[in-house]
Amino acid sequence: MAELTRPAGKPRVAVLISGRGSNLGALIAAARDPAYPAELALVLSNRADAAGLERAREAGIGTAVVESRPFGRDRAGFEAAMGARLAEAGIGLIALAGFMRVLTEGFVTAWSGRMLNIHPSLLPAFPGLDTHARAIAAGVRLHGCTVHFVTPGVDEGPIIAQSAVPVLPGDDETALAARVLAQEHRLYPAALAWAASGRARLEGGRVVLEAPMAGGAFANPLPCPLPSAAALPTEMP
Ligand code: GRF
Repeated sequence: MAELTRPAGKPRVAVLISGRGSNLGALIAAARDPAYPAELALVLSNRADAAGLERAREAGIGTAVVESRPFGRDRAGFEAAMGARLAEAGIGLIALAGFMRVLTEGFVTAWSGRMLNIHPSLLPAFPGLDTHARAIAAGVRLHGCTVHFVTPGVDEGPIIAQSAVPVLPGDDETALAARVLAQEHRLYPAALAWAASGRARLEGGRVVLEAPMAGGAFANPLPCPLPSAAALPTEMP
């Protein structure tokens, strides 16, 4: 009887995109290091005009386009077409990177623990779209990005890693988005590496993580200088 063993070599990763592909660019740069524990084997887009496809071609990574539009509401049909391309390429791990299609429960369940997404907010705050404008409107002092395993609920999956940035006075959506994006480009390659090497695993609906953890805490604005007790009013007016 054949033994059930982890396939030898690095997991073959498909990056799924719909647009510019700047996170894809960060993954490509990281995966150039021979020590990186995942191989970017396929970039699949649901739009032929996704700029990220060009980044993949330049890097010599195989590309596939499965247009979602002709499938209309037939999401399962679209996913079956996508699944065929993933199988052809021997894909073991999926990284969603600005992939703008909601996936069915069937597809997500089939890839449970093997599909990651990056979202531009500190989940569970601000799932969905327009996260930066919503963060500014809500008045939060910290914002950021999250890499999580994908589960059927949109932007609800178990969290692997997060990176926070300050929201500064005068920030508009563009400034805040750029600050978050810079962190996305650091976080996603690291999180994908942990997942690919088994250091981030989905177990019982939670992420088991063997990765370095930051200590301490931070606040924004910094509570410094602290008001001295003497300076505080002792009586209410
Ligand atoms: C990123 O902000 C990512 O967090 C979100 O979609 C955007 C994709 O940007 N899921 P890019 O295509 O990677 O530049």
